[in-house]
Formats: sequence, C-alpha cells, structure tokens
Amino acid sequence: MTVTVRVPAKVNVQLAVGGVRGDGFHPLANVFLAVGLYDEVTAAPARELRVTCSGPGSQYVPLDRTNLAARAAIALAELHGLAPDVHLHIDKDIPVAGGMAGGSADAAGALLACDVLWGTRTPREQLLAICAGLGSDVPFSYVGGAALGVGRGEQLTPLEVGGEFHWVFAVADGGLSTPAVYGEFDRLTAGTEVPEPAASAALLTALRTGDTAALAAGLSNDLQAAALSLRPSLAETLAQGTRAGALAALVSGSGPTTAFLAKDAEGAHRVAQALLASGTCVAARVAVAPAPGAVVL
Ligand code: C5P
Repeated sequence: MTVTVRVPAKVNVQLAVGGVRGDGFHPLANVFLAVGLYDEVTAAPARELRVTCSGPGSQYVPLDRTNLAARAAIALAELHGLAPDVHLHIDKDIPVAGGMAGGSADAAGALLACDVLWGTRTPREQLLAICAGLGSDVPFSYVGGAALGVGRGEQLTPLEVGGEFHWVFAVADGGLSTPAVYGEFDRLTAGTEVPEPAASAALLTALRTGDTAALAAGLSNDLQAAALSLRPSLAETLAQGTRAGALAALVSGSGPTTAFLAKDAEGAHRVAQALLASGTCVAARVAVAPAPGAVVL
C-alpha cells in the first residue's frame, strides 16, 4: 500500500516583520494564502527511512534526515513509539527555495501520508503541534486556504476568502536562503525603530469580499527590500510583470519567486507569457487561490 498526499504552495499577501526576538526569530503578522501549485508526497512501506525526489529543482533537495519531510516522519514515529521506516517520494512542482513554502509543504504532506500509511490516526491538534515544531510555515501548509499567522508565523487563525484570485509566479534562477533574507532585513533595519507587526484590516476585508483590486492595493511584504538587496535583478522581473498588466507585483515571502496578481484568468496568462518572453525569469506559472491544504489523493 502507498499513500499520496497533495500539498499547496503559499504566497504571503501581507508579511509584516517586527524586530528580531531573543530566540533569533522575528515576530510576524503573516497573511498566508494557499495557491494552486502543488507538490505530491508518497509514503510507502520500507525497511528504513529513505527520501527520493523528482521534478524541477529536485537536485537541490537534500535526501538525508535534514529533509523536512524526513523530519516529519521521524517526529510522528516518535510520538507513537514506531520506527520511521518509510520511503517518502516527493514529486516537486513548487519552486525549490523560492519563498513559496515548498519544503514546508513537503513536511506537512509527509506527516499526513505517514499518519494514514501507519494507521496512527493522530488528532489534528497533535499533527499541527508537530508541524509547528518543524518550521514556522508548516502548520499553514497543512491547513491551506487563507490564514493569519502570528508569533513566528505558526499560530494560525483561519481567514474567510470570498472569491478566487488569479496569480502568476515568476520562478527565478536559483534560490534564496530564508535565514539570509531575514539577516539582510536585520542589517537594513539596524538602528531604526521597527514597528510591531499588525495585519491590515483593509487587506483582510479584500480577502473576505473577494475584491481583487483591493487585494492588489493592499499587498505588502516587509522582506521585499531585503530580497531585492540580495538579488537586485528581481526589480526588473517585478517591472516586467507590471508593464504586462499585473494589478500588483511583489516578492513571494523571502523570495526569489515574484508574485503577480492579475484581474482574471486571461490577464494571468498574458502576464505569464510576457514574463517568460522578457527573459527575466526561468519559468512563469499561473495559479488560482485559495487552494486547499494537505489532502490524501
Ligand atoms: O521556522 P523556519 O525553520 O522555517 O525558519 C527558517 C529561518 O527563517 C529561521 O531559522 C530564521 O532565520 C528565519 N525566520 C525568522 N523569523 C520567523 C520565521 C523564520 O527569523 N518568524
């Protein structure tokens, strides 16, 4: 028997970042939106823990026990006093190290796949606690939809979404390290008063009412300046998408993937074509949001 779970990517429609905490993390007001780009994680019985990976960028995914999906299997096995003897295969479609929570998605997917394969029927609250222990974005990858994440991003409140949003994602050549981007944020904000992060009421209303123009007006990412500082060429990608008619453009999470909100499906295809033709990205993907969280196929 094998179990396959599909898990979505995310874009942060607001990422408000406060000053670094004593534990090295940053307090966030993180408005997550799951988008319809998916990885698939398949769990199969095996004599020992093994991870394999296929798809674009898979050569950059670690296959040892540092892989977040492997760590998810180990954490779940430990909870139930089992050996984590499972073969996890990750079929990637989410850009690797792209600021779209691909690694977090794989962890959430592995957790659900192992829970079903092993018949451990772990209560949702316990699964979410394991997710939070694995990484700040992992609980959201599990639940999907839209949510406000506070703390380091792991404390979630689900958000209502009143319509569909059409996005384009421009995949950059190579990844960016999330800790490096937060480090650059610290460098750029050193000596300044960094305000407490707070969710924007206008943005939450835009999500709730499905108002694309209002969402476009409210998009913000406090990590964008840091990502642009580390990868200045992203400015040109953002400009190309805007020129092609995107209502708004921003860096997705810690980057280097850039995200473009379009008026409708047709607009999204037009922006994707223009981005690809501009040569400022290696791939341009259209995706609809919101998308569900981890689901067994
Ligand atoms: O939680 P996660 O392991 O995904 O975080 C990866 C890195 O991103 C952390 O080690 C930290 O450098 C940075 N981070 C942060 N503040 C957050 C979330 C992540 O500084 N709220």
